[in-house]
Amino acid sequence: MDGRVGRSRRARDAHQLLVKQSVIEQGDGDNDLDIERAASLLRSDALVAFPTETVYGLGGNARSTTAISRLYAVKSRPTNHPVIVHLALDAPIDEWAVRVPDWANVLAQSFWPGPLTLVLPKRPDVLDALTGGHPSIGLRVPAQKVAQALLKSFGDGVAAPSANRFGRVSPTSASAVVAELGDEIDFVLDGGACSLGVESTIVDCTKVSPTILRPGGVTREEIISVLGSAVLVKNADGSTPAPGTLSTHYSPQARVVLTTANELSNSINSESRPDSKGKTHIGLLALADDLKYFDQTNSPEVMILNSPINVKQYARVLYESLRTADTNNLAVVIAVLPPSSGLGEAVCDRLTRAAASTDFGLKSEKIIL
Ligand code: TXA
Ligand code: MG
Repeated sequence: MDGRVGRSRRARDAHQLLVKQSVIEQGDGDNDLDIERAASLLRSDALVAFPTETVYGLGGNARSTTAISRLYAVKSRPTNHPVIVHLALDAPIDEWAVRVPDWANVLAQSFWPGPLTLVLPKRPDVLDALTGGHPSIGLRVPAQKVAQALLKSFGDGVAAPSANRFGRVSPTSASAVVAELGDEIDFVLDGGACSLGVESTIVDCTKVSPTILRPGGVTREEIISVLGSAVLVKNADGSTPAPGTLSTHYSPQARVVLTTANELSNSINSESRPDSKGKTHIGLLALADDLKYFDQTNSPEVMILNSPINVKQYARVLYESLRTADTNNLAVVIAVLPPSSGLGEAVCDRLTRAAASTDFGLKSEKIIL
């Protein structure tokens, strides 16, 4: 069976399908067949992209070195960067991890299924290829229905990094996965747009106390509220094995410039000149409140990519907005940072990393980390 993603109807007919509509979303009776087919492809070491509540993942059988090495190759991901293993609701963690601290169990009970990844000491039989040679394993039980149906049908762990090339913007829709990875993967399960839009929060549970390695869908405040203790937050210093914690990541082709509502006019003025390629077009991303005093008629070169009404919506549209900037061939995205509390911490984190390659002058060299 060849389920490779095709680009045109003719290609689809030639290669069989492609972007499968999630029947859960459409109430179509084919749903179970699509899930079954995706699970059976995973069993034969194929790569299946699937929706989660955070972003789309590119899944492979976590017990198969063949599938894992293909995952890394398709993503162009360095082999020392570990991937997260996704588990079904009732899957025992002790098939993957050892020495799980009580407080990690509290986190799992409080936030699984959901956008939380726990990094735990790995069992010796867990493939080193999954963990980049590190002695720990990242585990997550996603909440999204299609993801859960797939994991249940597959019956074992699915290794799934975000379904984008290393260093680039994560996909939050099936069409974004196809645009990003195209026919290099075997199957895309379409579950519609991701409800959260930013990745899971990663908590390191291998030390005496918890450390947030990457802010995400579960907020620092929520974690502190259940653990009732101080939680460390790791600063990006470039030395960590986690690409989501490298200082440059989540980058569109456009330069990303960060600003504040007060500085917005100045930022637009200083970016409203042609770049070296003669492009002047600017994309703008900001909370609706922060655009109150922005007058589009004075700035015809500016395209409003999105003006979310709150931080939750900002997270949901963030990656899609960065992709829109690229499909419109914009030179610059000016983003007004939202307040950094709650989910805003993850939004600010991703925007800061997306902007970092600009700051370091790497953009023109198109360095992919
Ligand atoms: O929301 C998410 O977490 C999405 C969806 C698909 O589940 N997945 C995702 O995977 O964002 P990825 O590979 O793009 O980012 C996972 C992050 C990376 O920064 C990786 O280095 C880190 O998790 N990670 C995984 N296992 C780890 C480990 N054992 N120790 C430290 N970091 C780990
Ligand atoms: Mg990623």
